[in-house]
Amino acid sequence: MKRKFKLIIRPLSSANIAEVLKLIKKEFSYLEMTKEKIAKRMQNPNVLFYEALFNNRFAGFIEAELTANDTAQIFGLAVKKEFRGRGIGKKLLLKIIEILKKKKIARVFIFVEQDNKIAKRLYNKVGFKFMGLHFSKAKGKLVEELELNLREERPSYVI
Ligand SMILES: CC(C)(COP(=O)(O)OP(=O)(O)OC[C@H]1O[C@@H](n2cnc3c(N)ncnc32)[C@H](O)[C@@H]1OP(=O)(O)O)[C@@H](O)C(=O)NCCC(=O)NCCS
Repeated sequence: MKRKFKLIIRPLSSANIAEVLKLIKKEFSYLEMTKEKIAKRMQNPNVLFYEALFNNRFAGFIEAELTANDTAQIFGLAVKKEFRGRGIGKKLLLKIIEILKKKKIARVFIFVEQDNKIAKRLYNKVGFKFMGLHFSKAKGKLVEELELNLREERPSYVI
């Protein structure tokens, strides 16, 4: 018999701040994050913090911030190891993109470590394009800047 899985993507609940912090410490150890900082960011109207619940268990999160008039940046996306490879990362990303589109955001940026092939594949799949290479002091390595243009229209020719 096929097992049924329930996936919910919703705004981060305070009850899962500790889970987010654990994941940040594991995956983005260069960040000096605390529960208080996360709680403060959740209150910021320019910050979008979403969580994924897999069969009611916290599975991952995404955080994006509206950075200027019509641009936004994705600051964090992570899925707990035991839940990876089930499409959860992609669903979190698509949910944020859908919300940013509704907010009339034109361009979304992301910085990804050059050697993070899995994340780069995911971002490329949803349409992010390579913009440039930078050296990140905090990470001590090269990061790629990727951009997703949400207003991109195909060129039309007037004959
Ligand atoms: C990147 C990450 C969020 C992906 O989460 P996930 O839930 O496992 O990803 P999904 O199952 O939604 O897969 C989406 C796409 O990612 C890529 N991908 C996922 N796992 C992969 C793997 N093991 N090998 C290669 N590509 C993979 C594929 O392109 C996949 O699409 P496909 O299944 O149609 O081929 C997760 O690996 C993670 O948390 N990594 C550590 C933190 C991190 O690097 N975050 C990004 C920082 S910018």
